Amino acid sequence: MRQSGASVTGQVADGLIELSREGFARFAQYITGQLGIKMPDSKMALVQSRLMRRARELKLGSLNEYEKYFFAASNANEREHLINAMTTNKTDFFREAGHFEFLRSVAIPSLMQGNNRIESRLKVWSAGCSSGEEPYTIAMVLSEYSSVNPGFDFAVLGTDISTKVLEHARNGIYRESLIEPIPKEMRGKYLLRSRNRSEPLMRIVPGLRKRVSFHQLNFMDEDYHIKDIFDVVFFRNVLIYFDLRTQEAVVNKICRNLIPGGYFFASHSESLSALDVPLKAIGTAIYQRRG
Ligand SMILES: C[S@@+](CC[C@H](N)C(=O)[O-])C[C@H]1O[C@@H](n2cnc3c(N)ncnc32)[C@H](O)[C@@H]1O
Repeated sequence: MRQSGASVTGQVADGLIELSREGFARFAQYITGQLGIKMPDSKMALVQSRLMRRARELKLGSLNEYEKYFFAASNANEREHLINAMTTNKTDFFREAGHFEFLRSVAIPSLMQGNNRIESRLKVWSAGCSSGEEPYTIAMVLSEYSSVNPGFDFAVLGTDISTKVLEHARNGIYRESLIEPIPKEMRGKYLLRSRNRSEPLMRIVPGLRKRVSFHQLNFMDEDYHIKDIFDVVFFRNVLIYFDLRTQEAVVNKICRNLIPGGYFFASHSESLSALDVPLKAIGTAIYQRRG
């Protein structure tokens, strides 16, 4: 039976009956409240297609049934499924490559030569790390630096809300086509090829994997419960999903864990200029912590 009345426009595949407008509004409110992610009406088709996969797994006949199921059950397990489905996790190795060149040639040397430096270990946080390509790229750059600067030590933290991408990141296994942006000379050092010829996969070498740890963190939490103070934060391609007020609150919370003089990278498509945050712009989407 097809749903009539106020339903979301757009095609629904596999005969699953579409979500009502009220149903979409309910999910949208929940997602924005939990994750900060904006959910304008233009996202209806996207939300619908992502929820459909889950509704199919549960063998439910319509998205409105899934809506009832989700809000009645509202258990931690179903919440996790929804979060995994609703986050956009697009990422790449060496994405916006200029940032990694800046990290290597400017940020690391200036941080390590700072007069007041006490810590011998450089700490970097990839906030919103998705499936790990960004933190492993950072680790490759830092590892290259350490190979010509004996005594240099580093650790990278990757955090994300999605348990699905965190599991992928911890495993550190990627399709061979994804490693293309990694400079050739680094591939041999930091990647191992799988023996399976039918599905060419590459794995980050154990020596690099052990430098990178992963934790779940929701930027909407009041307190991030992170003890470390970082020298560098990468917070790229996450802000775009939040409204201005949320962006400002989240960047301020992240800055609590960034040392004065520490570097903060946003994405080229993001600007912090409208936000009241303790960062000054020093390059294209590159900022430094004031104080
Ligand atoms: C597009 S990816 C960016 C990955 C990487 N930083 C990059 O630039 O390639 C955005 C990531 O932010 C995460 N994210 C979205 N909302 C979040 C929240 N409220 N708390 C923590 N992570 C969140 C998503 O799960 C997703 O993996």
